[in-house]
Amino acid sequence: MKELLEKIRQEALAMLEESDSLERLNDIRVRYLGKKGELTQVLKSMRDVAAEDRPKVGQMVNDTREALEQRLEEAKARIAAKQRELQLAAETIDVTLPAKRNKVGHRHPNTIAQEEVERIFVGMGYEVVEGPEVELDYYNFEALNIPANHPAKDEQDTFYITKDILLRTQTSPVQVRVMEKKKPPIRMIAPGRVFRADEVDATHSPSFHQIEGLVIDKNITLADLKGTLAEFAKEMFGPETKVKFRPHHFPFTEPSAEMDVTCFKCGGKGCRMCKGEGWIEILGCGMVHPKVLKMSGIDPEEYSGFAFGVGLERITLLKYEIDDMRLLYENDIRFLNQF
Ligand code: DAH
Repeated sequence: MKELLEKIRQEALAMLEESDSLERLNDIRVRYLGKKGELTQVLKSMRDVAAEDRPKVGQMVNDTREALEQRLEEAKARIAAKQRELQLAAETIDVTLPAKRNKVGHRHPNTIAQEEVERIFVGMGYEVVEGPEVELDYYNFEALNIPANHPAKDEQDTFYITKDILLRTQTSPVQVRVMEKKKPPIRMIAPGRVFRADEVDATHSPSFHQIEGLVIDKNITLADLKGTLAEFAKEMFGPETKVKFRPHHFPFTEPSAEMDVTCFKCGGKGCRMCKGEGWIEILGCGMVHPKVLKMSGIDPEEYSGFAFGVGLERITLLKYEIDDMRLLYENDIRFLNQF
């Protein structure tokens, strides 16, 4: 019996010594200490041992069991430590590797141009306001002196939500909203998105942007309009820029004009940019029509004012010499990164 126990002990300890996984340890435990394990068998065969030898043999079996259990625990700790070491080695982070570069966004050329226009007018004491893109027919047409059957309404065919509600075709309705709310003096610009049922091509899009301007006060004259817009043109396109006003018609201004600037590419000599003209049209403007003032609750006998509307995309395309408006809407990062 003593030899048998000694043999089991030697064998088991040798196996524990060599094992290198927790699964293997478990196998060994089952093999010796499990229900049908070798040591357990020895314990079961105790009934064959002479009564007087039993305590001694029992003690020996217990000693062996304790020795095995202790070694099992030790082996377990050894293997766990080893595994942790391997894991740490495998997950080592090389802190000297260069970091991934974060891609930083970029302002859209339209935004850059709009902020430039805002900067110029804020510098002249204007307030920047906003109006709704979904607008009442009343503000978009009626209150701007464009009655139901006016041909100007056809030109600006747009997206109707109901008979009386539509996507605004221009930022001019913001003029009316401001005049209804505020007492003069008024000096504001209103940038924003407008909509027209236009086909997409190099110079058209069903959705684009305008910047509206409005000044109302006592004794505002055409000279104020010309001086202001000439100053704007110089700031926007360079100090040598000249302006020219051509008579035009808008229902909400009288008189009305379109303003051209000298081509900033050729300085007015004529080139591809200005199609040989030397001049480039950039906005519509005029003295606010007395009827529009009256409808908005302002007395045309006491006050007068001027208004203007700039196509933002037009300015962006000119300023950055972009020849196709569609490029502005594709948001191709290779294009946008250039500005
Ligand atoms: N709303 C006009 C358009 O979309 C542009 C315009 C012209 C605005 C003259 C004005 C103005 O305020 O006075 O074509």
